[in-house]
Amino acid sequence: MPLKSKDVLGLKEMEPSEIELVLDTAASMRDILGRTIKKVPTLRGRTVVTLFYEASTRTRASFELAAKYLSADTISVTAATSSVQKGETLKDTARTLEVMGADVVVMRHPASGACHFLASRVRASVVNGGDGTHEHPTQALLDMFTIRRHKGRLKGLVVAIVGDIYHSRVARSNIIGLVKMGAEVRVAGPATLLPPCLEELGARAYSRVEPALEGADVVMALRLQLERQQRGLFPSTREYARLYGIDRNRLSLARPDALLMHPGPMNRGVEVCSYVADGPASVIEEQVTNGVAVRMALLYLLLGGGGDGS
Ligand code: CP
Repeated sequence: MPLKSKDVLGLKEMEPSEIELVLDTAASMRDILGRTIKKVPTLRGRTVVTLFYEASTRTRASFELAAKYLSADTISVTAATSSVQKGETLKDTARTLEVMGADVVVMRHPASGACHFLASRVRASVVNGGDGTHEHPTQALLDMFTIRRHKGRLKGLVVAIVGDIYHSRVARSNIIGLVKMGAEVRVAGPATLLPPCLEELGARAYSRVEPALEGADVVMALRLQLERQQRGLFPSTREYARLYGIDRNRLSLARPDALLMHPGPMNRGVEVCSYVADGPASVIEEQVTNGVAVRMALLYLLLGGGGDGS
């Protein structure tokens, strides 16, 4: 098996060489996405289930597309419309899907650690589509893929991540992954939204955004996760936008060729203004396309693929 584990639970568990393999394989998958006929027979007869206990547009749809482009069968289960509503446990739900033939279960869950719990209880591969405030490894892989496609490397780049770091599984996975790959990671946000573990993870924390942006190769704005916050962590979204929102002036502190990224969904006018979100530095839509390629690569590698996947 090209990846050491049967599961993709977090970037903490992945070696730099495995991250490199995923990114290289995703490059081949990206070529497939450029073809008129995008389907290849690689995973014919295999079944991928998406099991989502939280809302998603990008992650769920791109895993389903990724599986379909590789000719796998797909089933989509959401907690809101499944027997979870009748009290079925996570383990029983997953085992039910497994005995129907699921080879991969892609799960999003509000509890940190839910994917680890499941992975030790099913034979199928479990892919973390975001667990609580813990990790969102496939988002970080697609972010790294997008950066590498533009900059040709990750090592030595300065990446500034701005926003609600405390509640962001995207920030956590990106910090872990980018540091492993040799990038310098700066994080900026209100002091109340900066967790204490940042230095341990290898990132440098700033409570003002301007010094974090100076000379950055990449500026990554994050969504304010109001659904995970208790009240009173910052005065108002208007105040947040004034102090931390990425606009033209703030982006100009970064390198002239800096990339602007956002994992989505965006709150326009809060984390990022429309002028820069839709401007020439923005690779936000490209991140979404690259997400399909990266998820194709992961399914291919988990289900026994070896070469470049094409
Ligand atoms: N970036 C991300 O995870 O988006 P979704 O919530 O739409 O999946």
